[in-house]
Amino acid sequence: MRVITFGTFDVFHVGHVRILERARALGDWLVVGVSSDALNVAKKGRPPVYSQDERIKIISSLKFVDEVFIEESLELKADYIRQYRAQILVMGDDWAGKFDHLGSICKVVYLPRTPSISTTALIEKIRL
Ligand code: CTP
Repeated sequence: MRVITFGTFDVFHVGHVRILERARALGDWLVVGVSSDALNVAKKGRPPVYSQDERIKIISSLKFVDEVFIEESLELKADYIRQYRAQILVMGDDWAGKFDHLGSICKVVYLPRTPSISTTALIEKIRL
């Protein structure tokens, strides 16, 4: 089974490791859409700490990730799912319910987030 997931994965942390590990365990091929720098500027009003090339390099080096691409638009999830022939879409449960409409083209699974860690919290902690 081919699994797909999406995210920024900036300032890589153990919550990222855990969701990717669990996503891969749902199938035997994991494709990761890493959101572009431009998408992050549009979405969060600031560029990521690590550039998209650095984030792609980090995610590609993981043993439980098989394929990586740049997610250029949040609106193209259905196209990416078809293009990468994914049978399962995995999202963190911060997105619970938001992608149910894609259930007509693949199985949609929301996995629990790892508690007490996020890129935003890490940036705040380092800043202090
Ligand atoms: N994730 C997770 N557990 C965490 C943090 C993130 O499972 N503690 C998951 C998210 O649900 C998502 C993926 O990791 O599926 C990528 O999340 P991303 O938004 O890049 O990471 P965050 O740490 O949530 O970043 P931010 O604080 O900027 O929102």
